[in-house]
Parts: sequence; structure tokens; C-alpha cells
Amino acid sequence: MQGRNGILQLVLLLGLELGLEGALPPPCDSQIYCTGELLRRVQMAKLYQDDKHFVDMPLSMSPDQVLKDFNELLSSNEGYVSREQLKSFVTEHFKDPGQEMDTWIPQDWRDSPKFLQNIVDPKLRAWAEDLHKLWKKLGRKMKAEVGSQPDRYSLIYAAQPFIVPGGRFIEFYYWDSFWVIEGLLLSEMPQTVKGMLQNFLDIVDRYGHIPNGGRVYYLQRSQPPLLTLMMGRYLERTNDIDFVRDNIGTLHQELEFWRHNRSVNISHKGANYTLNRYHVPYGGPRPESYSKDEELAALLPEEDARESLWAELKAGAESGWDFSSRWFIGSNYLLDIKTSQVIPVDLNAFLCQAEGLLASFYSILGNMPMAKIYQDAQAQRKVAMQALLWNETLGSWFDFNLESSQQNHGFYPTNLSPLWAGCFSDPAIAIKNIKYLEDNKILTYKHGIPTSLQISGQQWDFPNAWAPLQDLVVQGLAESNSTRAQDMAFQLAQNWIWTNFAVYQKNKAMYEKYDINIDSGEPGGGGEYEVQEGFGWTNGVALKFLNRYGDRLTSGSGSMMFSTSCLLLALLLLGLLC
Ligand SMILES: *[C@@H]1O[C@H](CO)[C@@H](O)[C@H](O)[C@H]1NC(C)=O
Ligand SMILES: *[C@@H]1O[C@H](CO)[C@@H](O)[C@H](O)[C@H]1NC(C)=O
Ligand SMILES: *[C@@H]1O[C@H](CO)[C@@H](O)[C@H](O)[C@H]1NC(C)=O
Ligand SMILES: *[C@@H]1O[C@H](CO)[C@@H](O)[C@H](O)[C@H]1NC(C)=O
Ligand SMILES: *[C@@H]1O[C@H](CO)[C@@H](O)[C@H](O)[C@H]1NC(C)=O
Repeated sequence: MQGRNGILQLVLLLGLELGLEGALPPPCDSQIYCTGELLRRVQMAKLYQDDKHFVDMPLSMSPDQVLKDFNELLSSNEGYVSREQLKSFVTEHFKDPGQEMDTWIPQDWRDSPKFLQNIVDPKLRAWAEDLHKLWKKLGRKMKAEVGSQPDRYSLIYAAQPFIVPGGRFIEFYYWDSFWVIEGLLLSEMPQTVKGMLQNFLDIVDRYGHIPNGGRVYYLQRSQPPLLTLMMGRYLERTNDIDFVRDNIGTLHQELEFWRHNRSVNISHKGANYTLNRYHVPYGGPRPESYSKDEELAALLPEEDARESLWAELKAGAESGWDFSSRWFIGSNYLLDIKTSQVIPVDLNAFLCQAEGLLASFYSILGNMPMAKIYQDAQAQRKVAMQALLWNETLGSWFDFNLESSQQNHGFYPTNLSPLWAGCFSDPAIAIKNIKYLEDNKILTYKHGIPTSLQISGQQWDFPNAWAPLQDLVVQGLAESNSTRAQDMAFQLAQNWIWTNFAVYQKNKAMYEKYDINIDSGEPGGGGEYEVQEGFGWTNGVALKFLNRYGDRLTSGSGSMMFSTSCLLLALLLLGLLC
């Protein structure tokens, strides 16, 4: 037995070494949740207000039985099935969504984590306590059946309990979890964090990459690659190097997915570079937004064009920015989405930090050859980012369009993400970045940094503002060595806290996004679904700012907001003049 296992392990190891991905399952072939006639009929009949409802429903029996019964229904009616028949079919064969998980109170949750004591403003401190309590509402644990009968669920089994974003997002999400984890670490909950990391690592072991979220219908696409960064934050807090040692091969495997499946070679001005992009080479509508994708594609006459539209929509979803004029080439219209033709700044900044972290993990563990591989990968990426994404005249990085071989000079907070990632630490860069923010009048938006300056009706555009994007700007400036950049970081954090706090006072809720065009601050809108409450990453970023600036932040009021910002703006201008 032992010998056979040993040989098996050796074969597996060799397989990994040689990059043999053939052993991995295809990214979802479920004839119920990912593709097929049943999915098409149900979604196009719009049995539910949100297409996500159906693909989240567990089966009441085996998938073979469901498909057999459905085929019988089809053939007994010569292909015609009425809406009523579909409805009763679904009722008989499926269960309501959401029952596969129980709420779970994190075992390491306790009152009064230390960082609360450093928040001076009593109203903000009380609010931070509320936010800390919200982890108890957002904790989930999967029922054992999901593990023992996985083919009856779209949910991907995760053995450890975890924190969900909230609202319609009742499973875990990949990039959301990064800011959730930063919040949990401030809340002194490293056990919960370790469990979430373990789930992600298990999923990489099983599928070779991390899907957008914890459902099989998300398997074709990933989301911004932050797993190694999550491990980095966890290690910083806990020094749990054993956990890193046990899992470093899996972290490497995930980055290999990005290197193999999501990279692109670019020849530019006589030199060759390799950078990453979001790219999902699979057609078909997104199962959880099926009817919307079908209706949009119906505007295109040719099958090829429809399939490539669907692939680009999936790549847009993979970027986390679903959707945004950032991915539209030629107009502000969703039909012109070409996500795969964009080299995004943030994706490459995240990978740049991930490569640096893996190099340091390998070197701590004494594996110098692997440390060297990652140092070189990072160095090459920096050269490529400098050559293609940086613009010295404008003082920022920009997305690079592969079709036009030009930068997209639109404003997005992600343009500053290389500073956040710590990939370019020359203080002169931070100075250029703040001039760039001033040139774009970003400080005139008093309720948060806008997602873009384009109004497209999409949720990742003006006037929406999102918590992680605030962090991408604030932390980069705050950790630079320029005092002016640090002052600006504080002001931006204060604006965001005022908005979050004002809306919380009004609605007793945290939201996934905010509308910064409305004077008192409001939950955001636009896009494919209603604004969601919860909300994991918003809570995480608020806690992060409250921790960083607890000695200075104020809960403020409308008029105070105005006068304080004016004062700070005046100081900044003075700083410029002197
Ligand atoms: C990554 O690429 C390999 C081959 O190039 C392919 O077999 C695999 O399915 C791809 N992974 C995903 C998730 O698309
Ligand atoms: C990029 O070029 C390298 C070296 O020529 C090659 O090995 C790799 O497969 C290319 N990658 C892509 C995505 O074309
Ligand atoms: C860049 O790549 C092209 C195509 O792979 C190759 O012909 C060319 O020699 C390369 N240029 C440099 C400077 O390496
Ligand atoms: C930087 O921006 C300026 C002004 O728009 C433009 O003329 C220049 O070509 C850009 N540089 C790069 C490297 O794209
Ligand atoms: C900032 O300055 C400190 C001390 O002078 C130095 O140790 C650190 O590396 C600098 N950081 C950056 C981002 O330049």
C-alpha cells in the first residue's frame, strides 16, 4: 500500500513539475448548472427575478434523474414546455437556494479587539464595534451533504467555515476575501482567516485555480489574484511559517495558472514583454446572468460574434469590474466590451506583489532556486510595466490597449495600484501620482474616489465608489515617503469614512458600493442587480481606515465635512505654492 501511494505521489509530483494540467477537471461541464437545455429553458422563461436564483438551487435527486425527467418532459410535449410546466418541474426537482449553508459564529470572535481602543471619536468607535459584530452575521458553514453529494449542488464544497460578502452573494468570492481578511485580522480572528485560506488552497489543489466565487458555474473564470497576498497578510500577523511551508506549492500552482492561461506577449517598439490580462476563452452565456447575456447577444447577427461577446463578458466578470466602460473599446456600450484586449494595471500590480511575496516565502524556507525564479519574474514584470503602462508626462500608470498599442488615459483608481502594491517605491513616483490626482480633480469628489469619470450606467463607473478602490489609492499614498501624499491619503480616507458612516447612521447598513454624487452619500446603483447590503469588503476597508487613522478621523457632519475639506484643500494648495 505504502509503496503504491509513494509511486502515485511521485507521479502526481512529476505531473505538476511538467505542468501537465490534463489531470484537472474541465471548468464545469454540469448539464444543469453550466450548460444545456434545462438551464436555457428555465433562464429564458425568467422564472425568477434574478437568474442567479435558479443556478443556486440544490437538486432534490441525482442529476441523472433530473436530466432524464426533463428529457421525458421535452419529448412528451414535442419540445414544447410551458412556463407553468417548467415551474412545476423546477419545484419538483429542486430545493430553494441558501439551505446548503448554516450561519456560523466565528469561534475566534471576541469583544473588544485592541484596535478599537485607538479610535478617538466616540461615535466612530461605537460604529467600529458594530462593524466588528457584523462578522457574526456574515459567517457561514456548509452542511456536510454538500461534501458527500457534491453533484446535487452548484456550491463548491469548502470544509472550513468562512465569511461571505452578504446580500445576493451567499457564497464566498475570491477578491472580496482579501479585504474581508484584512478586516478579520484587525478583529484578531486569525483562525477564521486560516480556514478561509485553507478553503482557497484546497480549491487550487482540486481545480488548478480559484474561481470567481464558490459555485461551479464560476469555474471558467477567476477573479483578481490575491491569494498569495492574503497569505502574506496572515503571515505578517501570525508568523505561521509552517502553514506557508505546507502550502507554498499550491500558491506557486495558482500563479502558474495566471502565467500559463492569462499572459500575453507584446512586441512594442522593438522589444518583447510579457504581462497579464483577464481572458476567459469560453463562449456561452454566464449561467447566473443567462437571460441578460442572451438578450444582449441577440443584437448581434453572427454566432461567432455572440460567442466572443460572451467570452469578453466573462473576462469582464473575471476582472471584478463587471461591468465598466474601462473594458469598452470604441464606445460606452456593453456590446463593445473587449476585456481581453486590455492589459490592466491592477492585475499586473497584484501579480507583481504576489511574485515578490513568493520570492520572499521561498527564501525564508531556504529554496533559493525558486526564490530566484520569482525575483526574476517580478523584475521582468516591472520592466514591462514601466515600458507599457507608465506615463511620465501624466505621472501615472494606465491600462494598455492591445488593439491600438496605446494607453487608455481615462481615470481609474486602479491606475495608482502599483504604488499600493509596493512595486515602485521611488518617492518621486508618489509625488507624480498626487499631481495626477490633482490634475484629475479627484479631491473635489467629497464622498469618495469615483470608479471612473465616465457615466455609462454600469456599476463600475461614475458615480459609484467602491471600498477596495479607496484602499488601492489610500494605502499606496499613505505608505509612500512623501508627506504631501500621506496628507492626501488621510483626506481621502476621511471622506470615505464620512460617507460610510453617514449612510450607516441613516440605514443601519453597510453596502457594496456608494453613490458619491449625492450629497449625503447613498448606496450605489446601476448594473445588473440591486445594490447589496452586508458587506464584507466595505466593512474590511472601513476597519482598515479606522485602524490606520483612529487618532485623527472624525465622525463629522455635513457642514463640518465641508469646512474641514476646505481647510485641508487650502493647506494642500499652500503646500503646492511653497
Ligand atoms: C488552462 O490552460 C490549459 C491548457 O493550456 C487548459 O487545459 C485548462 O483548461 C485551462 N484552465 C482553465 C481554467 O481554463
Ligand atoms: C510568450 O513567449 C514565450 C517565449 O517565446 C512562449 O514560451 C510563450 O508560450 C508565449 N506566451 C503566449 C501567451 O503566447
Ligand atoms: C521578439 O519576438 C519576436 C517574435 O517572437 C522575435 O522575432 C523577435 O526577435 C523578438 N525580439 C527581441 C528583441 O527579442
Ligand atoms: C503619455 O501621455 C502623453 C499625453 O497624453 C502622450 O503624448 C504620450 O504618448 C504618452 N506616453 C506613453 C508612453 O504612452
Ligand atoms: C521611506 O523612508 C524610510 C526611512 O528613510 C525607508 O526605510 C523606506 O524604505 C522608505 N520607503 C519608501 C517607500 O521609499
